[in-house]
Amino acid sequence: MSVDAAPSGNRLFIRKSIEQVQAESQSHGLKRTLGAWNLVLLGIGCIIGAGIYVMTGNAAANFAGPAVILSFIVAFFACVFAGLCYAELASTMPVAGSAYTYSYTTLGEVVAWIMGWLLVLEYGVAAATVAAGWSGNVVSLLKDFGLVIPPEFTTSFVRAVQLPQGGFTFESGGSFNLLGAAGILAITVLLVIGISESATVNNVIVFIKVGVLLLFIGMGVAFINLDNWTPFIPPNEGGFTYGLPGIFRAASVIFFAYVGFEAVSTAAAEAKNPQRDIPIGVLGSLIVCTIIYMLVAAVLTGVVPYKQLGVAAPIALAVDAMNMQWFSLLIKIGAVAGLTSVMLILTYGQTRIFFAMAKDGLLPRFFSVLHPKFRTPWIGTVALGLIIAFAASMLPIQILGDLVSLGTATAFAIVCISVLWLRKNRPDLQRPFRAPLGVVTPVLGIIFALVMIAPLVLDIFAKAASGDPIPAILLGSYFAIGAALYIFYGYRNSRLGRGLPQIDADQDAGTGPEQALLHGIEDGKA
Ligand code: ALA
Repeated sequence: MSVDAAPSGNRLFIRKSIEQVQAESQSHGLKRTLGAWNLVLLGIGCIIGAGIYVMTGNAAANFAGPAVILSFIVAFFACVFAGLCYAELASTMPVAGSAYTYSYTTLGEVVAWIMGWLLVLEYGVAAATVAAGWSGNVVSLLKDFGLVIPPEFTTSFVRAVQLPQGGFTFESGGSFNLLGAAGILAITVLLVIGISESATVNNVIVFIKVGVLLLFIGMGVAFINLDNWTPFIPPNEGGFTYGLPGIFRAASVIFFAYVGFEAVSTAAAEAKNPQRDIPIGVLGSLIVCTIIYMLVAAVLTGVVPYKQLGVAAPIALAVDAMNMQWFSLLIKIGAVAGLTSVMLILTYGQTRIFFAMAKDGLLPRFFSVLHPKFRTPWIGTVALGLIIAFAASMLPIQILGDLVSLGTATAFAIVCISVLWLRKNRPDLQRPFRAPLGVVTPVLGIIFALVMIAPLVLDIFAKAASGDPIPAILLGSYFAIGAALYIFYGYRNSRLGRGLPQIDADQDAGTGPEQALLHGIEDGKA
């Protein structure tokens, strides 16, 4: 086994060699079948979800007002540069893996661990976030059929309460979002028995998701009241409530709406012409989604006064205001279908990240144990399903979404740093795709990641200072648990650290989250 370990006093930064990772990879022999268009469509399919259906309304109501439209441009840039860096790593190491694997080969084990832990935010916590958005839309849909679920079963234990002057505070007690939890548990059952979206189902869902939003834009234009856009940038009311700070804070919220686009960049190994098609795929899908998002945000804030948009299903609220029963039903069915598929993709991705970490000995082995019949990592899937369902029942979308944005932006920054590290230390490596503009792209990627992170962190501190410590406690506990797990488990059991090969699962349970998703789309299985 070739181990490109850092010097012994530096056990924390021990690294896997790229050659070792390639040897471990189950995905050798990937065919180069994807053209630019496939990649653009792939990206759009992975991107659209709760971010646009739910978070945009909250971001407008609490932070930016109609200027949330501009926030999408800021978040777009935070994704473009990181996306190109992802693509460079993926083409350099065409292995079935994720940012976790890239970190293990570049910055070393402790950073790989941190990355894995951040990816829990990007996938596991994101799944809980989408479940919260999903339940809001299911409630609204069922209400149209005369079925009212009591709010005690659809509201999280901690909930965000809108303040009359803008912004919100948190209260707790009295309710659990059992509907959101039930959604995740149903997805868990599907994943254990190995059912995932077929190519056809995925295409249909992408078609519905995009179609519904285009219809919303087309029909909604007629209902825009220009008064709702005035002032376009509401004056700052202190902190991140409106004004310029609010635009950046809203950008960090709707950054969530772009999570998932890495699927395009990690498809570099399967692109027919990566140097040309990957940038088209990354930029194309991000540009198309940004245009759709900005138009949806324009209609949303034009139809409903922005202060009223801080609800569980803002798009549903806007279509209800249009007073067309059939249209309202269509939009809600589309939203529920779209969000269900995103929940499935994200939960799936989470189980595969832990699968990879368990094979490296950084997490307990049960996360990599395969079911004898279904060939899925079933114990890990059930354990994660329960944890994600618990999070969905306890926490509101505002807290969950911020955690996802924070984790994802930090992961993006690490990916950009990995690119810089690899260029310096392994200039010899073949790079079928190289991010353009030398070091400018990775450096801009890091800067924009910080632009996403700063308002989130500042707001968490500000909330704690004003008597709302829940987000700060959650974040602190999350990182404390991560550190304890590494110190007391991962560090001691690391296969690489003990000079042992990766645990050999008797059959591959899937690949890294992004490629898994790609395979699901291309091959009709995941
Ligand atoms: N981008 C995905 C969504 O908005 C995660 O739901």
